[in-house]
Amino acid sequence: MEKKNIKIGLFGFGSVGQGTYQIIQENAALGAEVVRICIKDPQKERRISRENFTFRKEDILQDDSIDIVVEAISNAGEAFDIVKEALLAGKDVVTASKKMVSEHLAELLELQAQTGRIIRYEAAVCGAIPVLEVLDSYFAHEPIEELCGIVNGSTNYILSRMQDESLDYSTALRQAQALGFAEADPALDVKGWDAGNKIVITALHAFGELLRPEEVLVRGIDELPRHATRLAAAEGKRIKLVGRIRLKEGKLFASVMPEMLSAEHPLYSVEEENNRLLIYGKYSGLQQLSGKGAGALPTGTAVVSDIRALLNRRGYQYAKYKERALQSVV
Ligand SMILES: NC(=O)c1ccc[n+]([C@@H]2O[C@H](COP(=O)([O-])OP(=O)(O)OC[C@H]3O[C@@H](n4cnc5c(N)ncnc54)[C@H](OP(=O)(O)O)[C@@H]3O)[C@@H](O)[C@H]2O)c1
Repeated sequence: MEKKNIKIGLFGFGSVGQGTYQIIQENAALGAEVVRICIKDPQKERRISRENFTFRKEDILQDDSIDIVVEAISNAGEAFDIVKEALLAGKDVVTASKKMVSEHLAELLELQAQTGRIIRYEAAVCGAIPVLEVLDSYFAHEPIEELCGIVNGSTNYILSRMQDESLDYSTALRQAQALGFAEADPALDVKGWDAGNKIVITALHAFGELLRPEEVLVRGIDELPRHATRLAAAEGKRIKLVGRIRLKEGKLFASVMPEMLSAEHPLYSVEEENNRLLIYGKYSGLQQLSGKGAGALPTGTAVVSDIRALLNRRGYQYAKYKERALQSVV
């Protein structure tokens, strides 16, 4: 008997939506098909037939034949409404929206418990790098002492261009936008908020702590003095936007700050849109995860990996969060 494909409703057909669509089309063995795509702008040119699209979210959310909703739109408020409706309608969800996830983590945990459905969001942190999967699953039993990393591809790209080609900040930002690395609203990237959102999500899986975005101390690269990169270069150093979570005497400290790193530092050599996360485990010592942190196909592959996990009904374990919840009851 022929196996039935899992049906996917896709929200958004920008960088992430198109990357995801392409990978699903090229992987028939996945056993999944995109049956409807919801977008916003009726005037935009599309590279696939108009019949694939709708402008009404109900066409996906109220279609009982759709099993999985993939949310990859640029508006975090609307994204949460879509995701919430999808879970309540009995669908599993994959999302790429870090802002939405970090602002609604507690509600998303609650919605999963209430509906028995699953939401996965690997693409929301460091693009193609399986950061959440590794922290949630592989490190579920191991206390982590510190995490630090370059978790925002566009600011890293901008800093690379400023330091390698002596470009000014605005020109480097325009280049990052032209290449599709920067968020639609560049303030999210350059002010460090996007990295802060990723730090919030990472903290839940690595330390079991539900932080609010405003609890992360955030400074971006937009206020760096003009001569800062030249000053760093004169000392043989490079400036990087570094996200950090540190556990000290039972308390978590989370920050995103530009830092001047010397050549020996494991983050010194991370260039362009690449990301790297350093994990300092109690037993394993330093582990490093590196790769492409943004872009259509790298992010699309993280989405498709989540779809694959859903085909096996595999959600996140949240082991450390559940452990902390139990400790607070005892
Ligand atoms: N780009 C990356 O490398 C990357 C990496 C990781 C995570 N993300 C996250 O992934 C999400 C999407 O990013 P992106 O770069 O793909 O954005 P994008 O290129 O700007 O595309 C956004 C898409 O969302 C659609 N859209 C906006 N509001 C909508 C609504 N209410 N209903 C239906 N569709 C709507 C747009 O429709 P139209 O086409 O009609 O305008 C567009 O297709 C964001 O949350 C972003 O933070 C992006």
